[in-house]
Amino acid sequence: MVANCAMNRERSLSGSNGYGRELGLDVMAELTDRGARSACVRWLDLCCGSGRALSEAVRLAADGARGARVEIVGLDLVDHFVADSVPPELQLVTGSVTEWVPDGRFDLITCVHGLHYVGDKLGTLARAAGWLAEDGLLIANFDVHSVRRADGTPVGRGLTAELRRQGFAYDASRRRISRHGPGEIRLPYRYLGADDKAGPNYTGQSAVHSFYEHDPSTSPACRAGH
Ligand SMILES: C[S@@+](CC[C@H](N)C(=O)[O-])C[C@H]1O[C@@H](n2cnc3c(N)ncnc32)[C@H](O)[C@@H]1O
Repeated sequence: MVANCAMNRERSLSGSNGYGRELGLDVMAELTDRGARSACVRWLDLCCGSGRALSEAVRLAADGARGARVEIVGLDLVDHFVADSVPPELQLVTGSVTEWVPDGRFDLITCVHGLHYVGDKLGTLARAAGWLAEDGLLIANFDVHSVRRADGTPVGRGLTAELRRQGFAYDASRRRISRHGPGEIRLPYRYLGADDKAGPNYTGQSAVHSFYEHDPSTSPACRAGH
């Protein structure tokens, strides 16, 4: 796990470097759309940094979510959160995505440039998939090249194929992963450890390589005894 002062923790919801652009998703439109169909909409932002985008969203939602209650949870390893007074609809939590356990399910789960710094990226994706509501959406910046075998070579296409088999969509050109709906994910990879000196990734920032060994015993077919 890595957290340092070179990281951009201050992204806004919109704008040239904002959540909308990085995720390819208009978060407010998504929340508003879901708010038109449900009495309560829950958004979880993993590795939320300062929580600035979340604080903006809470204010905008109060103005326009057509009566639906919007609850937002931001989770980060470091508690350098926005200094504004935090309304009850926004919860900013200090903890690690590899260990934290939520109190319920979410309609939207995002992770904007956070997985690059997490050790067990695949375990985190699997856990987050289990926190989605029935028609929930998970979307995160994710660079498949940062997932390596023990010898340092990228797991590459075998991994993207496995992720797709288990219900994720991976956009290789934009380096984004997404998923609709919850699932019990069993990726056939065992986490070995991480290298926080891997150097810059495609964002230009130093990132973490995560090492795995293939472990078919964790795949659903083997567990079921086939
Ligand atoms: C590049 S910043 C992005 C912050 C925010 N999403 C934004 O775009 O403004 C990455 C964030 O990931 C957080 N982080 C790194 N490892 C984490 C972990 N294991 N659990 C939770 N947060 C983590 C860091 O503390 C940092 O705030």
